[in-house]
Amino acid sequence: MLLDYKDIDDMNRYKIMSNTVVPRPIAWIVTQDEGVINAAPFSYFIPLSSDPATLIVAIGQKSETVPKDTLANILKNKKATICFANKDNIEQLKLCSTSLDKEDSEVTKYNIEVQQLLEDFPPMISSSQSALFCEYYSTVELPGKTTPVILEIKKQFIQDDKIDENQHIQIENIGRNGAFFSAMVKL
Ligand SMILES: Cc1cc2nc3c(=O)[nH]c(=O)nc-3n(C[C@H](O)[C@H](O)[C@H](O)COP(=O)(O)O)c2cc1C
Repeated sequence: MLLDYKDIDDMNRYKIMSNTVVPRPIAWIVTQDEGVINAAPFSYFIPLSSDPATLIVAIGQKSETVPKDTLANILKNKKATICFANKDNIEQLKLCSTSLDKEDSEVTKYNIEVQQLLEDFPPMISSSQSALFCEYYSTVELPGKTTPVILEIKKQFIQDDKIDENQHIQIENIGRNGAFFSAMVKL
């Protein structure tokens, strides 16, 4: 079968792309605004370059005129802490995909423990084995309802037992595999 993307509507294009480009890592992004801690998962997410250390994440809208809280917070406050999910916190991550009012915090509502590792970045999810402390870099201009945002990694937390003296890292991330979540394991 050959699919011609010009004949496929938005919903089916999303389904086909997100079930084909697998497995994808999930960025569990923590942002902050007016004292409210926001946390939400995003899988249209990938590293771009190590120099500068940049990642891209594509974030949609809550409604026709309102961006998702994560996007609004990044564009306003220029900071994001990207955490990673593992088998111990994947259920909490799933809860964080529920859309809440902007003044409500997923972290408070779902009782998710966070820690303020760095004063000038949003807190990280305590149960994550690694977290990337990022600053807003730029936005890629793209028509449509999704805004791809480039973030620059400034600092990284990594659990001591997940990194060795040769900078080999072994974290047990959970990723997106079509409709499912799966471990990103070594073969
Ligand atoms: C595994 C997973 C991946 C997701 N990936 C994306 C994504 O790449 N882009 C996006 O806009 N929404 C994505 N979502 C949906 C958002 O998490 C959801 O809209 C969330 O409510 C946004 O929260 P916020 O308004 O607090 O930013 C994903 C949801 C899940 C469960």
